Amino acid sequence: MSRYFTKTLSALEPYTPGEQLAIENLVKLNANENPYPPAPGVAAAVAAAVPGLRLYSDLTNGELNRAIAAHWGVKPENVLCGNGSDENLLLALRAFCDEDTPLAFADITYSFYPVLCDLLHIPQHIIPLEADFTLDLGKYKGLHETIVIANPNAPTSLLAPVDAIEEVLRTNPDNIVIVDETYIEFAPAGATCLPLLEKYDNLVITHTFSKTHNLAGARLGFCLARPELIADMNRVKFSYSPYNVNSLTQAAGTAAIRDEVYFRWVTDKVLATRDDAARQLRQRGFTVLDSATNFLFATTDRMPCREIFEKLRERGILIRHFNAPRIDDWLRITIGTPEQMQRFFAALDEILPPQK
Ligand SMILES: Cc1ncc(COP(=O)(O)O)c(C=O)c1O
Repeated sequence: MSRYFTKTLSALEPYTPGEQLAIENLVKLNANENPYPPAPGVAAAVAAAVPGLRLYSDLTNGELNRAIAAHWGVKPENVLCGNGSDENLLLALRAFCDEDTPLAFADITYSFYPVLCDLLHIPQHIIPLEADFTLDLGKYKGLHETIVIANPNAPTSLLAPVDAIEEVLRTNPDNIVIVDETYIEFAPAGATCLPLLEKYDNLVITHTFSKTHNLAGARLGFCLARPELIADMNRVKFSYSPYNVNSLTQAAGTAAIRDEVYFRWVTDKVLATRDDAARQLRQRGFTVLDSATNFLFATTDRMPCREIFEKLRERGILIRHFNAPRIDDWLRITIGTPEQMQRFFAALDEILPPQK
C-alpha cells in the first residue's frame, strides 16, 4: 500500500478470486466456470458488433434486456445489466445499504459480500450457518436489515426452499432482500424466487451469464426486480459507470441467452457429470453435500483437504481450498467435462489410492 492510499480503506482485504494459471493442459476446476464454449452463434454476433465499437455502447442495454426478459418471462423494465454479478451486487448494496442500514448474510457464503461492505462502509451482520452448513432462514425473520442470501449457496452448494425465503421477504417489508441466484439453473425446477417478484416489492434477484451461459470472460450479470428498484440501481449506475456493459458483451449475451437449445444441452451435461462425480467421490470415502450447483463441496478424513488440494495442483488439477474458519478441511470442485473429471479422479487415486 502506498502512502497515498486513503486511510479510510487501509484495512480493506480485497476478494481472492480463483487462480487463473497459464499452465498447459491444466484441468481448471476452481472458479465454477462452465467447461463448454459459448453458444455457437456468439462468435458471429460479436464479430457483427465490431464495427459499432466506434460508438459508445447502448446505455439502456435494450436488446439484451429484452432477450433476458424473454428467457425469464419478465418485462424488460424488470432487468438491469451490469459488468458481472459482482458489479450488480455493488450497485444494489450502494442503493440499499449505508452506515445505518447493515447487510445481513451467512458466515459461509460468497466471500465478495464482506469485501463490498468494507469498500462501501456498510456494517455487516454475520449469521452463522448451522453445523451441517444449512441456512436457518428463521434467523432472518424480522431483522429490519438489508439481507443477501446466495441460493444455492456457495461454496456449500446447498439450496434453501423458496417458501422459507418468502418468509424472510414477508417479515422484512421495509428492507431489500437480495437473492443471489448465480447457480439457480443447476437446481431442480421451481427453485427460483422469481414468482415472488409479483408479490413482494422488496425482492432483488441477481443472476449471471458466467455459469449456465458460458460467458464468464464477457463479464455480464443482471438483476431482476420491480421497476422502482431497477430505477434506484440505475441512479447509482449512472453516477459511476453509465456504459457499464460494452457492445461486444451485449452482443454475446443476447446471442447466448436466445439459444435455449444449447443452454439446455450444456446444463444437462453438467448436471449428469455432477451426479456421476458425486457418486465417485462418495465411493472413495468422501462426504459430499447434495449439490444444487455446478460444483461439489466435499471432505474426507483420509488426508487433510489442504494437502489434497496441493497434491492435485502439482499434478495440474486446480480445485478450490479456502483457508477460512469452519471450511478449511473442505474442497470445492467445479464440474468439468467428463474427460476433465476422469483426469481429476486419476490424479486423486494417485494421491489417495483406492481402499480395498
Ligand atoms: C454466489 C456468487 N455470486 C456472484 C458471483 C459473481 O458472478 P459474476 O461472474 O457474474 O461476477 C459468483 C461467482 O462465482 C458467485 O459464486
